[in-house]
Amino acid sequence: MIRTDPPTPDLFLTPVDEVFVRNHLGPHPRLDTATWSLTVEGLVERPLRLDFPTLQSLPQTRFTAVHECFGNPLHPTVPTRAVTNVEWAGVPLAAVLELAGPLPEARHVWLEGADTGDFGGESGTSYLKDLPLDLAGAEVVLAHGMNGEPLRPDHGYPVRAVAPLMFGTNSVKWLSRIVLAADRPDHLFTTRLYTRVLPGESESRPVREKDVSSKLLAPGDGSSVPAGTCELAGYAWSSTEVTSVEVSVDDAGWQPAALDRRGPDPAWQRFRLPYDLAPGPHRIRCRATDSAGRVQPLAGDRNAVHEIRVVAEASTHPTGR
Ligand code: MTE
Repeated sequence: MIRTDPPTPDLFLTPVDEVFVRNHLGPHPRLDTATWSLTVEGLVERPLRLDFPTLQSLPQTRFTAVHECFGNPLHPTVPTRAVTNVEWAGVPLAAVLELAGPLPEARHVWLEGADTGDFGGESGTSYLKDLPLDLAGAEVVLAHGMNGEPLRPDHGYPVRAVAPLMFGTNSVKWLSRIVLAADRPDHLFTTRLYTRVLPGESESRPVREKDVSSKLLAPGDGSSVPAGTCELAGYAWSSTEVTSVEVSVDDAGWQPAALDRRGPDPAWQRFRLPYDLAPGPHRIRCRATDSAGRVQPLAGDRNAVHEIRVVAEASTHPTGR
């Protein structure tokens, strides 16, 4: 079940209680730090079986990143806007790869979770994703903490992969097996689902880097606000830095909003625009552009501009007090 609108969506860090849970294969597997292990196998010099204390003895990292669900892979162009911003703690995958020693012919990293179940007409499948070795070694972290606490069972306890610049589908929970291979795996979640043809391209590619996107969070969709000056605000994000966000009220044209810089972590960026709302109903939209020049489309794709409706209430005091 995807919860798209947390009760306190306006915070920079999303409380863990409000982070969406996306389990494709049913309830989370029952794992704990005493019995969990991670095997590293395939095209490596030294196959490994790491336990939790060994993982914790490796170099640690901590960073904040947007955590966004791509949406239902059976309906890849439908916006779901399930997005949060969380702080992860864990071990860079590079440290584990160094222990195992990839062989020269290794090109791909397969990441597999401990969960199995039925999805998309297949039964007894595992959750498997893959990334090019260079990319995985540079980006992926084996996370054991979320917002300063151990991962909760639904979020991958005790250890999950996190690919901070990519859609959440790549961040394999309950990580139990890493395989180094010469080829991509043919699997439900790698080659049959979570693939798409990007605008301007003809070949289908795996769903990886996040799209440019933004979400209006204040005022809340469907809310009433006093007429007059109102701060229109929300967050924008992308796999690269967002360089501008524009806001449009009732088709009055796109106006640039003030936008925070991204900083070293791939966190979301807050935007805000004070706007004088006349009494009555309003349609408010936001549109982000990133440093790669990508702009949110007006309609028709999963990252189409976000739109909210609000009603500005005229003051009931005739004097305006
Ligand atoms: N990992 C495993 N093992 N099983 C899953 O079903 N779902 C993926 C990803 N990792 C999934 C998984 C999807 S589609 C998303 S969006 C994120 O986990 C969701 O992470 P969360 O539930 O911690 O928010």
